[in-house]
Amino acid sequence: MDDSDRKQDAPGCGSSPPGKKQKGPFVMRCDAGKHAWCRCEKSARYPLCDGSHRGSDVTPIKITIDEPRVVVWCACGISKNAPYCDGSHMRLC
Ligand code: FES
Repeated sequence: MDDSDRKQDAPGCGSSPPGKKQKGPFVMRCDAGKHAWCRCEKSARYPLCDGSHRGSDVTPIKITIDEPRVVVWCACGISKNAPYCDGSHMRLC
């Protein structure tokens, strides 16, 4: 995937492309299957894990999606319902 592909796959709702922490969620259409939410904040695919946590004590939160759907991933890091956004980012604005 090059940068132009990444921009096309970028989530809606005004989010910037995945790759760094931000003050709002990443809204992404996800395929069915296993997904891992980054907790180390080093992933180049943040909020999704790219394996950058290896060698540390931090591990991703893994979820399984039964069918393709839109997922609202927390990208601010303070959700109490991680890996999903719970609106807590509103306190950061
Ligand atoms: S992005 Fe909404 S709670 Fe983190």
